Amino acid sequence: MEKPRAVLFDAYGTLFDVYSVGLLAEQLFPGQGQALAVLWRDKQIDYTRLVTTSNDGEHYRPFWELTRAGLRYACKRLALELTPASEERLMNQYRHLSAFPENHGVLKALKDKGIATGILSNGDPAMLGVAVRSAGLEGLLDHVLSVDTVRKYKTHPHAYQLGLQATGLAAKQIVFVSCNSWDALAATWFGYRTLWVNRYQLPFEELATQPERTGSSLRDVLSFF
Ligand code: LAC
Repeated sequence: MEKPRAVLFDAYGTLFDVYSVGLLAEQLFPGQGQALAVLWRDKQIDYTRLVTTSNDGEHYRPFWELTRAGLRYACKRLALELTPASEERLMNQYRHLSAFPENHGVLKALKDKGIATGILSNGDPAMLGVAVRSAGLEGLLDHVLSVDTVRKYKTHPHAYQLGLQATGLAAKQIVFVSCNSWDALAATWFGYRTLWVNRYQLPFEELATQPERTGSSLRDVLSFF
């Protein structure tokens, strides 16, 4: 098979650790930090699907707003009192999520090989801009693509299509990397070559399609070259 010419990474969960908010959540709500981080993430993604699949996307709202809505829901669901100050602290933490330690080295190695690199994310441009700058990844990414341009969240094909438009390549010339199994699955269905990074030793989706490769860290993307 032809060597890929570009690598596109999912952002939240893949380059940036969405569960790193659990630490602050635990300080604010002792004993509930992890539960809050998990439910918050699940609800955020749930909302992206709800607004994309309902009424042809007329209820679209940027990821930042859905993230806030997910936090409010998760707190209510866990019967945690979210004061405006705590909400701002948690949202601010989300803006500055920890980056996974191998990001920098992997992106640098790809650039050294002349491979185009990018992010293709549900995150809105402002969120992605801050996250990329905080992680010091600016010079290592050729494309930072937000679904906000098409107002359809992954796994809508218009969202994945952004990668082809930006790179001028066919899906089969691009490796899409995600730690989210549903994202790796849908990107495979879309036609990308795929790497699922299984950071949390989870089973893959049971929908009769496997990602092209499975790894345990972003470093595994280098095996494509
Ligand atoms: C993203 C979501 C999947 O970054 O977290 O697109």
